Amino acid sequence: MRYKSLLALSGLIGIGAVSAIAGSSGAKAENDPVYVVQEGHVDQHTFNGYRRYGESCHRCHGPDGAGSSYAPSLTESLKHLSYEDFTNVIVNGRQNVTKSQNNVMPAFGTTEDVVLYIDDIYGYLKARSDERLPRGRPKRIGDDS
Ligand code: HEC
Repeated sequence: MRYKSLLALSGLIGIGAVSAIAGSSGAKAENDPVYVVQEGHVDQHTFNGYRRYGESCHRCHGPDGAGSSYAPSLTESLKHLSYEDFTNVIVNGRQNVTKSQNNVMPAFGTTEDVVLYIDDIYGYLKARSDERLPRGRPKRIGDDS
């Protein structure tokens, strides 16, 4: 039901690619939606992704996915990183040993607050990366203010 109405809307409001919203748990089809942004307001999944990002990623990757001196901008990363590569780095972590610093991306594979909501986090960052969302706390669809 929800998925169908989202598909109907997709021509009007622009939807990225992947699946949290569709509710399918397995492989991602290329045209499955990842986020919904309607007149600057986001759906519940995208909003949850914003919150989870703030709790688990912000301290290294900076506010709004914009990057920091320690970790890269994820809004930039998602312009070239696939969904599979994105989830792979989060689940397994990564260590940059090529720079003089030793910057570590921790593995979140056993962190439920991240793994369970990885699609929501992806959706939020993808909306930022696609320049569908400005910086800051997004408003939810249905919020009047
Ligand atoms: C302790 C600091 C830290 C935290 C917390 C952290 N990261 Fe990272 N992350 C890094 C560093 C450092 C790198 C770069 C590693 C490298 O260069 O190999 C990185 C790399 C990445 C990459 C790869 C980017 C690219 O362009 O290849 C992704 C995706 C990513 N992080 C997502 C996340 C998400 C999502 C979260 C929150 C769930 C998160 N990170 C939390 C430090 C962190």
